[in-house]
Amino acid sequence: MSQGAQRLRCDQTPAWPALRGYFESSGHSFDMRQAFADDSQRFERFSQPAPHVFADLSKNLIDAPAESLLMELAAQCGLEDHRNAMFAGERINNTENRSVMHFLLRKPPSAQYVPSQVAIDKVADLHAEVLSVQEAMLAYAEQMRADDAITDIVNIGIGGSDLGPQMAVLALGEFATTGKRFHFVSNVDGQELASVLARCKPDSTLFLIASKTFTTTETMANAHSARRWFEAAGGTDVARHFAALTTNVAAAHAFGISTTFGFWDWVGGRYSLWSAIGLPLAMAIGASHFRAFLGGAHAMDEHFRLQPLACNLPVRLGLLDIWYRNFHRFGSRSLAPYNSALNRLPAYLQQLEMESNGKRVDAHGDLLPFDTAPVLWGEPGTNGQHAYFQMLHQGSAVVPVEFVAATTAAKSLPGHQQKLLANALAQAQALMRGRADAGGHKDFPGNRPSTFLLLDELTPASLGALLALQEHRVFVSGALWGLNSFDQWGVELGKVLAQDIEQRLATGDVSGLDGSTAGLMKKIRA
Ligand code: F6P
Repeated sequence: MSQGAQRLRCDQTPAWPALRGYFESSGHSFDMRQAFADDSQRFERFSQPAPHVFADLSKNLIDAPAESLLMELAAQCGLEDHRNAMFAGERINNTENRSVMHFLLRKPPSAQYVPSQVAIDKVADLHAEVLSVQEAMLAYAEQMRADDAITDIVNIGIGGSDLGPQMAVLALGEFATTGKRFHFVSNVDGQELASVLARCKPDSTLFLIASKTFTTTETMANAHSARRWFEAAGGTDVARHFAALTTNVAAAHAFGISTTFGFWDWVGGRYSLWSAIGLPLAMAIGASHFRAFLGGAHAMDEHFRLQPLACNLPVRLGLLDIWYRNFHRFGSRSLAPYNSALNRLPAYLQQLEMESNGKRVDAHGDLLPFDTAPVLWGEPGTNGQHAYFQMLHQGSAVVPVEFVAATTAAKSLPGHQQKLLANALAQAQALMRGRADAGGHKDFPGNRPSTFLLLDELTPASLGALLALQEHRVFVSGALWGLNSFDQWGVELGKVLAQDIEQRLATGDVSGLDGSTAGLMKKIRA
């Protein structure tokens, strides 16, 4: 069933040429300043409340006819069926023959199931398993939080086993009351681990080896080096000082780790923060805040699952992404979190969007005649304003900007939060308004699009909702593009070649290599 079979790819629908026609006739010359002048209700029409997140979409290059054609596109592509297939546990990750059920990790124990539906029964069984691991993991998190002898927690993992926990521990620093230090080691560059180890003592350090597969080269190299360091200092109690977060519990045991928290192959690496991979976050903020984090994400899951397309925030955002990528042909989107605790959010979302939808063939392997994932990039505001915002305002390319801000900040200093928000609003306003009266270098073209995502406050629940929102908007664009958003074959070739080159670097064998690789290898070995 499913596997994208009933889906219609966006370019095969009647709505696609209709959108093309609309774009060419008026969409491309849409002026949002005029649109605000013509419609006093534009803000209301193009804003969307969702759990914990309010989205102002009104400063985008979109009008009601374009949005309603995009809604038709979504309907014709079978977006709702595809979404429902995911929530029913169907194997929509067709190239790996796996279900995609990260939503199950945040479903509360009280969730109801309809017993007669076979697919739902299967999901219900798995849910019970999820809750039992979650309980064990949270109990362990609480035990470690109370253990004053452990002062340093070192998470060793990469990609989805690093970016999520690292981003979230920083984002929710206000809720971290343990007094423990958290370190994140991902790079195989030994300087990273060495500098962390230099600040730790073996008998007060807990290593979390985070790897879905427990085979990733960088993580395994760092894990082995960490254990060598631990043993060289006389450490013997590996069971106390090492825990593994993985779907491959057997490999963790073979490594010598007996404390393990498992998860499942239906959790993609970039969707795994909600699983045992979230253990550093649970240790930082505690079980009840972690449950609130899951709860915020669950509220967004329910919004995505149940709201009609027209007032479904992930759907509206995902459709805007299609409009910008395939019609306006914008090649990138800039993320501007006006909250320094969200420093690592752009890196986290980069993996989410670009590893999910950075693909040039559809789920059946057919080459796509249109563009997919844009480049996602950004830095927290106001820092970005003093670096690359010049290009956003006056550069030759239009880059949609996504602002993220919280109304209140728990621990700001007097006056700062107001300045921060004023800057976020002013940048979005300047992008839209532009300026034509100053002449030459001082003029701004304006009419540059931005979305404003507003949280009441950055809390475990609102962060959970914000991240789930991003997951689902990536689902929406990926679904319409006809992709399998849940595999990542594009990372494989480099891994294989690195193994070959590592051996050649040891022996100096350059036979059969291209001139550049051979030349660089000789220079490195000289
Ligand atoms: O190489 C890419 C990737 O597979 C990501 O998708 C994943 O998040 C990362 O590597 C780490 O993988 P693992 O958790 O299995 O070590």
